[in-house]
Amino acid sequence: MPSLSALHTFGLDASAQTVSRVDTVSTLFALAQQQFPNLILGEGSNTIFTEDYTGVIWQNCLSGITFSEDADCHYISAASGENWHALVCRCVDLNIGGFENLALIPGTVGAAPIQNIGAYGVEVSKFITEIEYFDLKDKSLKIICTEDCQFGYRESIFKHQLRDVAFITKVMFRLPKQYEYVVNYGELAALKLPSIESIFQTVIKIRENKLPDPRNVGNAGSFFKNPIVPINIFTRLQNEYEDIPHYLVSNTHVKIPAAWLIERLGFKGQIHEGIQCHPQQALVLTNYASGTGRALIDFAKQIKAAVFKRFGIALEHEVQLMGQTERIKL
Ligand code: FAD
Ligand code: EPU
Repeated sequence: MPSLSALHTFGLDASAQTVSRVDTVSTLFALAQQQFPNLILGEGSNTIFTEDYTGVIWQNCLSGITFSEDADCHYISAASGENWHALVCRCVDLNIGGFENLALIPGTVGAAPIQNIGAYGVEVSKFITEIEYFDLKDKSLKIICTEDCQFGYRESIFKHQLRDVAFITKVMFRLPKQYEYVVNYGELAALKLPSIESIFQTVIKIRENKLPDPRNVGNAGSFFKNPIVPINIFTRLQNEYEDIPHYLVSNTHVKIPAAWLIERLGFKGQIHEGIQCHPQQALVLTNYASGTGRALIDFAKQIKAAVFKRFGIALEHEVQLMGQTERIKL
């Protein structure tokens, strides 16, 4: 039974029945004949194996990137197994702007559309034109355009109708040559001369200061999503907690940082059976001292219950928690 601990950044001790590398699209035709439960895996930076997985892991190793351009835009077609940050670095080196706010997000290009990765005011969906995927039911290659992907905050069709049905093989991007830098988020606003390079470097610095490096301590980034609540619920909370941070996401809804709710309850820095609520960023849980899947789930449930009890907000986990045969919910 191959170990999965090096195949997911949280690093819990778990194994799978088989791990099959997907190096070419034709491998997918052969794998799709199998009857076992299977899971598509990129770099495992948003997936946590909480126990041994009884199915087959399809490890995405598809590679290859092509660049082209016309007078107005750069176009990139990237195989889904390519590393996301490496693609961002190549664009910055080529002075192609757009991805710089999304520097240092771990994982593959193919997983980026799944939860529509976002950071520092930018979401990847802004640049995606089309996605090629292998339909595991029909056993054929298909293309979906961005308008049909149902992108939202940490959301896409790949988490719903196309979950475990679509193996994303290629992502097509368009990056306009004329665009405005996005520098309204936190420390970026202080940049005197924003440029692709300065935004890229600043984002890296912020992230290195705040987020734990999975090479040093196991983690999967933000454990929970930031809740989006109706304004009337937010106003009620604001009456009680004047300093509650928030961002207006529409005329009717407000996003509240889950890290603030969690820190306010005193969890920041706490350790529960080897799992820590990170001392620099309360939204990140870490595998601090050889924790177990059970301890992680217990701790996450405690946090979720405490947030609900105090603030009346039901946190949703952002990470994919894997059980023996399928994803589990808290
Ligand atoms: P995996 O964890 O391997 O897979 C994630 C999900 O996608 C699984 O359900 C898997 O089955 C599915 N999947 C993967 N590849 C494919 C494919 N080719 N076709 C179909 N389904 C597939 N995320 C952000 O949005 N913003 C951040 O700022 C951010 N910061 C992070 C910081 C740290 C330190 C860490 C560890 C994570 C962070 N994340 C962030 C989360 C993570 O980087 C992203 O979700 C990333 O896109 C996951 O890529 P992956 O290849 O590791 O996906
Ligand atoms: N805050 C606290 N305590 C903390 C940390 C943050 O109170 O320990 C409050 C502060 O008020 C701070 C606010 O939360 O101003 C926002 O914090 P931060 O800028 O660190 O961002 P976040 O909302 O916690 C989100 C994403 C991150 C992304 C950053 C930057 C989610 C679930 N997380 O975190 O994405 O990198 O914004 O854009 O939306 C991930 O998805 O894995 C991830 C790391």
